[in-house]
Amino acid sequence: MNFNPSKLSDPQFFAEGRMAAHSDHRWFASDLEVRRGESSYEQSLDGTWKFHYAKNPDSVPGGFADPEFGVDEWDDIRVPAHIQMEGYDRPQYVNVQYPWDGHEQVSPPQVPTLFNPVACYVKDLELQRKQQKGERVTVTFSGAESALALWVNGTYVGYAEDSFTPSEFDLTPYLRLGTNRMAVQVFKWCAGSWLEDQDFFRFSGLFRSVTLRTYPAAHAFDLKVGVNLNEKLTEADVTVTVDLQGQGTARVRLDGVGELTEVAPGQFRATIENPQLWSAEVPHLYTGTVEVVDVEGNVVELIPLQVGVRRFGIEDGLLKINGERIVFMGVNRHEFGLNGRVMTREETEEDLIALKRINVNAIRTSHYPNNSFFYELADRYGFYVIDEMNLESHGVWDAIRTGTAAVEDAIPGSDPVWVPLLIDRATSMYERDKNHPSIVMWSSGNESFGGKDLLEVADYFRSVDSRPVHYEGIFWDERYPESSDVYSQMYTSAAEVERYLQENLDKPFILCEYAHTMGNSFGAVDRYVDLAYREARFQGGFIWDFADQAILMTDRYGNEYFGYGGDSGEAPHDGEFCGNGIFFADRVPTPRVQEVKYLYQGLRAEVTSGQVRVENRYNFLNSDAFACRVTLTQEGQILESATLETEVGPGETKAYPLPVSIPDLPGEYAIDVSFSLRFPTSYAHSGFEVASEQTVIEVEDSAQGPKHRPAPRLVLGIHNIGVHGPHFSAIFSRINGGLQSYRYGGRELLKAVPTPNFWHAPTSNERGWGGPFEDAQWMIASRYAKVEATAQNPKVETEGGLTVITYVYQLPTVPPSECTIRYTVDGDGYITVEQTLNPGRGLGDLPEFGMLFKSDADLSVLTWYGLGPDESYADKRGGARLGLYQQEVADQLVDYLRPQESGSHFGVRWAEVTDRKGWGLRFDADIPMEFSAQPWSPFEVENAAHPNELPPILNTYIRPALARRGVAGDDTWGARPHDEYLLPAGQLVFRFGFQGVL
Ligand code: GAL
Repeated sequence: MNFNPSKLSDPQFFAEGRMAAHSDHRWFASDLEVRRGESSYEQSLDGTWKFHYAKNPDSVPGGFADPEFGVDEWDDIRVPAHIQMEGYDRPQYVNVQYPWDGHEQVSPPQVPTLFNPVACYVKDLELQRKQQKGERVTVTFSGAESALALWVNGTYVGYAEDSFTPSEFDLTPYLRLGTNRMAVQVFKWCAGSWLEDQDFFRFSGLFRSVTLRTYPAAHAFDLKVGVNLNEKLTEADVTVTVDLQGQGTARVRLDGVGELTEVAPGQFRATIENPQLWSAEVPHLYTGTVEVVDVEGNVVELIPLQVGVRRFGIEDGLLKINGERIVFMGVNRHEFGLNGRVMTREETEEDLIALKRINVNAIRTSHYPNNSFFYELADRYGFYVIDEMNLESHGVWDAIRTGTAAVEDAIPGSDPVWVPLLIDRATSMYERDKNHPSIVMWSSGNESFGGKDLLEVADYFRSVDSRPVHYEGIFWDERYPESSDVYSQMYTSAAEVERYLQENLDKPFILCEYAHTMGNSFGAVDRYVDLAYREARFQGGFIWDFADQAILMTDRYGNEYFGYGGDSGEAPHDGEFCGNGIFFADRVPTPRVQEVKYLYQGLRAEVTSGQVRVENRYNFLNSDAFACRVTLTQEGQILESATLETEVGPGETKAYPLPVSIPDLPGEYAIDVSFSLRFPTSYAHSGFEVASEQTVIEVEDSAQGPKHRPAPRLVLGIHNIGVHGPHFSAIFSRINGGLQSYRYGGRELLKAVPTPNFWHAPTSNERGWGGPFEDAQWMIASRYAKVEATAQNPKVETEGGLTVITYVYQLPTVPPSECTIRYTVDGDGYITVEQTLNPGRGLGDLPEFGMLFKSDADLSVLTWYGLGPDESYADKRGGARLGLYQQEVADQLVDYLRPQESGSHFGVRWAEVTDRKGWGLRFDADIPMEFSAQPWSPFEVENAAHPNELPPILNTYIRPALARRGVAGDDTWGARPHDEYLLPAGQLVFRFGFQGVL
């Protein structure tokens, strides 16, 4: 038997000589090994392998698997790694399109033959463990993309597909004393690749660990833990089924429970009275051990066991955990870090801690099974997991959707040829992961249209397990509704979900993807969360997605940046569509985290008429698990702070007297209610804030009259109008269209005439719905507005001793628009600005309305009293808090993969942009404005495809605005902001003031 590469395109050939899948337990030879976490039965083959890259199977060196074949001249490569991240082939980011599309004329299940890289690996190894009689040795490739063939000592051992589940081979017959040669070919594409069209970077190679394992003569090949929790949650029946191979017996013990009774060969059982339950909120695990004893009475295997006692399923038409209705506060997570899909346990743990800290309670493993340690960590930290099978055929579905292919062309569709492969993938995932309490649903895959094959997958899951089955595709192909136990959709608006629920009553509903957080996004997500607490059958959703998938690159000047589709020189590609994370690729939180954490928090607080109403949205935690502090501030200054003892049960709401007193003195006061951990948890220290809410109260000043403003000195020149006071001078040009100079304290604060501004660098969402085309004339209007200089333009007047200078700008829109800027200058150098836009009839809404000031980069510090600390917009400000903030101007533009409008602050009462000594400009507005101060103009931001392409910092651009368009976020390919977050049509008037500060 040998491997024939022509079989790569045979969908029925997906495994040969591969062992059956089994649970992911580890076995150890002693207690000490268990405690160290190191098993003498395991030998890692991770590390350096000899490597040869072949462009296609025909170019693989003949006889390379031969133990005598010389590989000394071959390269070295790391395992685990994607070969594309190690200098071979190149990373390719494509979403829907198949990676080979446009290169080779292939149709399913054919595989490209000219370019189908083969990674040839060779390792010479010696067994570290002295083999005992009856022992067997296997090798497990935990992840090989997309197919591998294995030879040991020159003999072909077998073949396996499915990039994301382990492939294990029994090596016992092939091994010999001394050095053994392992030779592996990993093919980038096989027939199965038609079903691996996930939206991600396309890589290949051995990207997860390779491990040799010894099976003792008596060995627990598989464990299956069953938990049956009664209706009242008072009694749990726990069974552990041990599939014992060889001669021996097993014993099973659970700490605090004792030894389980063997009720049938290999079947152990115990009843736990009043069990401690597992949930994402309180992830209690019973620990225990399975011991395997050989015929001589020696304990040959110690297997640590973790059992979560919980009941999950559809009860009374709702998804329930331990009898309680669940709301998924979820995210989709690609297992992707700085080395691509090569993730360590430590990195994964960091990810889960980061998610716990922002109140995420659920993860969908989009769109493939993860490394085993992910599930173990999810059990321990507490997440509800949707475990998704490795299946996506989006490219073919797209052809069906757009009418270029027929429904019958769907793959897998209803074609029986794919069924064995699909069931194999389902089995590999289920068998490996079945004992993890964190997994609450099995997902049959992603975006593969419908058909009968998917029903077969669902039926398989149901035949082996009680967990509900998830598949979103029943929405697109309604022929086999039983393929999913839940309704699941993507990117449906909250209003549409509500409508759908009224007509479709028979299943609970989730959004397996929503809130597409690409670029400056995540607007109006509160609607979904509100809906989940209004409509029982809407049980939450999963944000798309956890972290940007991007590759760290270095430009020609040594500057690092995150590369996306196209940056590795690949074609076809899908640009920066891989960057949708609530965390950046390096796990730095994006500003969206501020919002996610707030929307997903389990406690809500509202301050009204002297009371704090606390709503507890947790299923199991009482509010007294958290310390509550109420703080009263004025412009960032703490006036009073008090603790509040709360005792609100899960699902309850209670009101408490407000423990701080609001002063009678006129002013604006903020009351912050904050909940923090009383005790340390696995993911955060005690005192860590888990929830917060703010209420702003205004105490009116009835006695306030108009302020006295001293008159300035006016100089009416031929070309300039000078307005002066003791500490300032302003020069308004009659020929250059505006305020040419503003000196305060003897220093010039302007580098250019401030201009009316209607535009910002398009966000990813705006690009997605075609904003640049619609907004183009507002961009031109911002760049090329014109003041037709006449005797009355600018117009100079004196009102109550103050100088008023008005410019009328003509805007090159079709039909034309006009904008007036009216400056009222007093003797202190305070300038009131009134900016009025009269848009041409029928022009669409503006990206924003305000002014653009250009100053020197010396003005590098931004201080503001408004919402913060991170960016906030009209439809993204739930997590922002009114306060006094100070940040560097250089840090204001957010490092989204592709630079775009970002870093603005909503609700700004006043802001100062100054140098380090406090010299600069102060802006204020009676009606809070939107405000940003950044090193680049909107035009420069738009021009940069990556942050490293932004020009060197020479300026500070200040943009006070009446309003900016909401960022939107339902999706990135059509959804506009909701109407109320658009700028209103018709005339717009913006009033603000500015003055120098010293
Ligand atoms: C969904 C898909 C995801 C991702 C997302 C857009 O359709 O399931 O994998 O492509 O859209 O970023």
